[in-house]
Amino acid sequence: MAIDKSDFFTSSRGEKASLYSISAGDMRVTMSDFGATLISIFVPAGMGRFEDLLLGCAEPRQWETTDAYFGATVGRYANRIGASRFSLGGKEYRLAANDGVNHLHGGPLGLSRRIWKVEPSEEAGSPTLRFSIASPDGEEGYPGNLEVAATYTLSADGNLRIQYEASTDAPTVLNFTNHAYFNLHGDGKGLVLDHELKLAASRYVEVGAGLIPTGRLLEVAGGPFDFRQGKTVGRDIGATGSGYDHSFVLDRPSEKPSSPALFPFAVLRDPTTGRRMEAFTTSPGVQFYSGNFLSCPGKGGLSYVKHEGLCLETGFFPDSPNRPEFPSSVLNPGERFSHETDYRFYY
Ligand code: GAL
Repeated sequence: MAIDKSDFFTSSRGEKASLYSISAGDMRVTMSDFGATLISIFVPAGMGRFEDLLLGCAEPRQWETTDAYFGATVGRYANRIGASRFSLGGKEYRLAANDGVNHLHGGPLGLSRRIWKVEPSEEAGSPTLRFSIASPDGEEGYPGNLEVAATYTLSADGNLRIQYEASTDAPTVLNFTNHAYFNLHGDGKGLVLDHELKLAASRYVEVGAGLIPTGRLLEVAGGPFDFRQGKTVGRDIGATGSGYDHSFVLDRPSEKPSSPALFPFAVLRDPTTGRRMEAFTTSPGVQFYSGNFLSCPGKGGLSYVKHEGLCLETGFFPDSPNRPEFPSSVLNPGERFSHETDYRFYY
């Protein structure tokens, strides 16, 4: 089986984190059970060399303390919930605040800083790592005992598929994403401002203080958020303030929200190497984050700076639990949450 396991680090809570490596075709992906985290995506770079297209920490133990969420599977609610509270079924729930007064990426511990159970398998040359975790009722303030699985499958044609599944025993809210920072030049080989990005989104979610939505969805037409025809990340970034850190409303065809199809929402291309990534999702939105807060030691002893990598975090819009007009992030007992995002690489 094209799956290897090795030691990664021992957490401050004494838990042993492992590293898993899966290979298919010419690609190799490494992940950790710590946060069901994508550590590296290696693609061939000629002359027998490989390039890592993901940013990450300098030392294994830093995955525990970083606030960049490099490659992590984020939940229970990826992105922000305003004032760290929401109401459901007439009851108010208070969440752990970890971004000023707001709740970010599932809270201070979240699921991205816990060890997940791993089940490796392989079918028809496609290795799979299925990560699962149980989040008890009340964890970080969320109602319901939640069973979560995130299944990562690499196929020989360069596709990395992520399937999220969840079930609960009480009504709750949820939003899962992967927080990989991509750099198609290769990690540490320059900023992503020259990457060309195309996004199938005519609107984006307006945010106010603390990056919390105002409730308005604005048209991208003609402004810095208009990536519909494709343009470099850097072309209009100056007009955004500190960079892109916004949820885009994907132009999905009309369909039942309960059975969304995989929708091709993004193409990212590095004009220098010609490497390309195409992204697909069943989710209603994507948070395009241009690495505005990056400033930390990175892989290989580098120091990361702003715009060293970018994230395309699929999911619901921020603060959906407080915005009944947004697509619903509520999961009820008896329902099965099931979403998929694929990143397909051409190199
Ligand atoms: C992004 C978020 C940013 C920042 C980052 C983590 O998803 O949109 O504002 O919090 O995560 O450093």
